[in-house]
Amino acid sequence: MTTDTTDQLREELLAAVAGANDAAALDDVRVGALGKKGRITGLMKDLGAMAPEARKAFGQKLNVLKDEIAAALDSRKQGFDAAALNAHLATECLDVTLPVRPEAKGTLHPISQTMEEVAAIFGLMGFEIADGPDVEDDFHNFTALNFPPGHPAREMHDTLFLDPADDGQRYLLRTHTSPVQIRTMMTAKPPIRVIIPGRTYRCDYDMTHTPMFHQVELLVIDTETNMSHLRGCLQEFVRTYFGVEDLTTRFRPSYFPFTEPSAEMDIGCSRKGGELKIGNHGDWLEILGCGMVHPNVLKACGLDPEVYQGFAAGMGIERIAMLKYGIPDLRTFFESDLRWLRHYGFAALDIPSVTGGLTR
Ligand code: DAH
Repeated sequence: MTTDTTDQLREELLAAVAGANDAAALDDVRVGALGKKGRITGLMKDLGAMAPEARKAFGQKLNVLKDEIAAALDSRKQGFDAAALNAHLATECLDVTLPVRPEAKGTLHPISQTMEEVAAIFGLMGFEIADGPDVEDDFHNFTALNFPPGHPAREMHDTLFLDPADDGQRYLLRTHTSPVQIRTMMTAKPPIRVIIPGRTYRCDYDMTHTPMFHQVELLVIDTETNMSHLRGCLQEFVRTYFGVEDLTTRFRPSYFPFTEPSAEMDIGCSRKGGELKIGNHGDWLEILGCGMVHPNVLKACGLDPEVYQGFAAGMGIERIAMLKYGIPDLRTFFESDLRWLRHYGFAALDIPSVTGGLTR
């Protein structure tokens, strides 16, 4: 056993490592050198039969050789592993810089856009979003909202009733988003500050009415809430929504069973030349209904009217969308005409925000 032996073996093994074409061939080289019956292992076994001096010298050389070959095997293996990983990644590669396919150009419906805008504005004022079912019972849609049985205001709603149910109830499609006021007050603890966007249904169909439409409800319940809070809140909303900083508003007395006092809010506009324009031009346009929550409604929800007061408001989503975006006929919202959607739709990724811009 001489130094020549290890030098020659080193050369051979390093050449074998370099010559291995893949991980399997490399493993054969490893087994042939360092495995149980490998060549280096074999030489290690022979050490026992050698004289102590020679054993020490040759043992050291063998150890160096073993480490060197193990390192060479390891580095070559890392090369194969990296190449395998890259090959795998290449099959899963996705070029995010490619343009989107031209046929995948969807737009957001003006209803969705308007709801997002409303949520962005009230969200900034600290309102949360609440919702409730489209199929309601008489209690939530009418009775708890202070429409007693037989009350004439029920007739104004052109209610769509479902067939009588097994439990004897006559369920209905909610005629407004106000029943979610009841559901919210019965479950949440004041202070309450919510908006309730959603679908509503009435048996009606013409230029300005469709059997299904959308409303957004506003509800605030706290211990010290008054009409001027209501007015300020709504004024802030219409100014931001219509983008007219000093837009004037006016309250007219009105009637809703669930509010007392009740009002309708108008905003400034002009109708010159048959064209409607929002702004302070001397004319008025009705925009929503509102008022202070009626004590009977608070009581129906288990809240003490001596402790809590609040305000509510409701408006039509289609109506404020038509006004802002100049859409003349309500019925076109639901015709699913692609040309209409392309014309009035909004880029799906432009999320409205008060600071970033409501519409782009
Ligand atoms: N629920 C009413 C309707 O559909 C709208 C409304 C008016 C809601 C006044 C309110 C309110 O919360 O205070 O006609």
